[in-house]
Amino acid sequence: MGQPSEVARTWTPSSWQSFEAAQQPTYPDPGAVDSALKQIHGFPPLVFAGEARSLQAQLGQVAAGNAFVLQAGDCAESFDEFSAVNIREKLRVILQMAVVLTYSLGVPVVKVGRIAGQFAKPRSSPFEKIGGEDLPSFRGHIVNAAAATSAARTPDPDRLVQAYHQSASTLNLVRAFTKGGFADLNRVHAWTQEFVASSAEGQRYEQLASEIDRALKFMRSCGIETETSDSLRSVDVFTSHEALLLGYEEALTRQDSVGGGWYDCSAHMLWIGERTRQLDGAHVEFLRGVGNPIGCKIGPDATADDVLQLCESLNPARIPGRLTLISRMGAERVESSLRPLLQAVRESGHPVVWQCDPMHGNTFSAPNGLKTRHFDAICGEIAGFMRAHAAEGTWPGGIHIELTGENVTECLGGAENLLDTDLDGRYETICDPRLNARQSLDLAFRVAELMRTSGVA
Ligand code: PEP
Ligand code: CO
Repeated sequence: MGQPSEVARTWTPSSWQSFEAAQQPTYPDPGAVDSALKQIHGFPPLVFAGEARSLQAQLGQVAAGNAFVLQAGDCAESFDEFSAVNIREKLRVILQMAVVLTYSLGVPVVKVGRIAGQFAKPRSSPFEKIGGEDLPSFRGHIVNAAAATSAARTPDPDRLVQAYHQSASTLNLVRAFTKGGFADLNRVHAWTQEFVASSAEGQRYEQLASEIDRALKFMRSCGIETETSDSLRSVDVFTSHEALLLGYEEALTRQDSVGGGWYDCSAHMLWIGERTRQLDGAHVEFLRGVGNPIGCKIGPDATADDVLQLCESLNPARIPGRLTLISRMGAERVESSLRPLLQAVRESGHPVVWQCDPMHGNTFSAPNGLKTRHFDAICGEIAGFMRAHAAEGTWPGGIHIELTGENVTECLGGAENLLDTDLDGRYETICDPRLNARQSLDLAFRVAELMRTSGVA
């Protein structure tokens, strides 16, 4: 490593404050925000720098084409739907998807939840007209409440503290579930939910789980202890969220006692959203200085030049696994919009992870006004993403999905063929529509097939 660059010398956890920060709420009492942030600054970190480095090393394997990353969870976590059951069900689906992908692709699957901190939402407009009244938009439970009243929508700094505590409890449970026996590969059958078990995709999963069982039995007959092996008994599920509220992120940014670098200890991985990726903006400024692995959403209008400049600012040292580019183009546009970007990044030699978010470019309103996405468009975007990579000789490193473990009716289609008239049944998301457990499991099988048929795996 050479001398730290000029850029690296001038970064501090608060240097973002001299840049324009998009999408920040306007609080009625800025003094109350300062005291909430001061309190959070005094709280323990949620994750350790060493864990973030371990995720970065695993993502480095993805960048090199030797592993796949599954990032998944809620669009926005809710203060109201906060329970052990809710977290467990989400983990079950993520574990099931990961096992399907690992078994089918034959490479390690890095698991990252949109969990334990995914509370803040960017909005296309700061106000929303409801019943003739202009109300501040709902920005996620870390900022305000969703109800259509002016009191509910007023940003409340106490919510920053509540989000920290909910993140800590959620992460505690994630650690217990993933390290305490629940995620043991010897229990691969137990991850299926009752409502999934009898479905076609549930049965397909059962068959795969039985094959894994047989393989484990074979290993035991060969004298390998599968019941005590750490790598079979526990998994790593890392946490991530969009680093939107920069005051909150700064308050949890701590200097690593081992290497001296700064880490945003609110999650293992942080990403920059499509609406906040301005090269001269505060979000890029903040995230370029933390040591965590980071992501950046890339929409259909991003140019090759934009993407190369993001790579230079966010990963000047070209560390593999440091930067994940999350394309979210829409099924129609992905192949043609992505190819020039893949080509430019490949030619620049930047070691990025390319991840496909097939959700955010495929959202529309159903006739009853509810926001939805069609399962076929989601598969279609992933297929276009794979074709683009196959054509450019690059590695389609992973997928980024909004899902829940519940049997909700938010996205259309899938094996049960949900129709727009079904959406009212269980439409529970507080933000974007999520795949339900059956659709998610189905998607994992589709992704594995697409990887094989597109010739990339
Ligand atoms: C999201 O991931 O929930 C989101 C808002 O995405 P994007 O920034 O890509 O629109
Ligand atoms: Co979303």
